[in-house]
Amino acid sequence: MAYIGSKCRACKAPAVIDLPQHNAHFCADHFQQLCRRQVAKAIDEFEMIDPDDRVLVAVSGGKDSLAVWDLLVEAGYRADGVYVGLGIGDYSNESEGYARRFAAERRLELITVDLSEEYGYDVPTAATATGRVPCSACGLSKRRLFDRAAVDGGYDVVVTGHNLDDEAAVLLGNTLRWDLDYLSRQLPVLTAVNGFPKKVKPLIRLTERETAAWCLLRNIDYLVEECPIAAGNKHLGYKAALNTLEAGSPGAKAAFYHGFLDRMAPLIDRRSTSTRAAANRCLRCGDPTTTDVCAFCRLVETAAAHEPVPVEMVLPKRRRR
Ligand code: FES
Ligand code: ZN
Ligand code: ZN
Repeated sequence: MAYIGSKCRACKAPAVIDLPQHNAHFCADHFQQLCRRQVAKAIDEFEMIDPDDRVLVAVSGGKDSLAVWDLLVEAGYRADGVYVGLGIGDYSNESEGYARRFAAERRLELITVDLSEEYGYDVPTAATATGRVPCSACGLSKRRLFDRAAVDGGYDVVVTGHNLDDEAAVLLGNTLRWDLDYLSRQLPVLTAVNGFPKKVKPLIRLTERETAAWCLLRNIDYLVEECPIAAGNKHLGYKAALNTLEAGSPGAKAAFYHGFLDRMAPLIDRRSTSTRAAANRCLRCGDPTTTDVCAFCRLVETAAAHEPVPVEMVLPKRRRR
């Protein structure tokens, strides 16, 4: 991994990575310093984590969640991990292996929760039973289980590995629909409210190429394969569109997302439609909700009563054999 003839901007040693958005190449050491600085800046700017907070990292076994866990532990934060088994066939089995190995090698605490064992359903079954898009059934389940693990374990803050590419793609989707509700809530920090834990995204200043490079340089083994049932979804299409823009104008992605945070987000009314802030309590679980029974309890009820659906049934058509 070296860019023949290119030199690090900081020390003139042979470079290992080019970062067109910074108009620079970096050696391994200075690239890692840049990653640490970007994470520290995000944490500082948005008051994401206090030094004595107990932190829970939502871990998938992919590059972003393992990179952010590594960066936080290296920076001295007390950070444990939580992994949720979603029942997505081999993909879930492999991703759990990567999460477990990462934690074991570094003697870190990893909490594991299995959807089937705890709630009697998996993501393919939930998607089929409720008619939801698989990623939506998955997201709803993960959010609830992460929140619950944080509250049960007495953690102060939940960290997710969303990076600049993820956030810019979500922003593009919300903007294309002018979805003011979502735009008003698309911030890298959700404060603790109504019994829900604080949630933060320390990787918003790093791209997924940078988190992959971080893992490579730090010898972090991660699951490279993307979720098979997410293939072809709109979010990936928005990422591809932004990558096309970025190739022609390096820095466009960061300018789009951080420009939104700096200049647009403060102008949008903070809407009160967030379920987290709802005044009602779910009749089943007692969590805040805008209806009688919360979306998660309705999903559990429908999915657990459905016969199990194999993952092959929810793969995008072109991936089925
Ligand atoms: Fe949630 Fe793929 S990981 S749908
Ligand atoms: Zn250097
Ligand atoms: Zn409920």
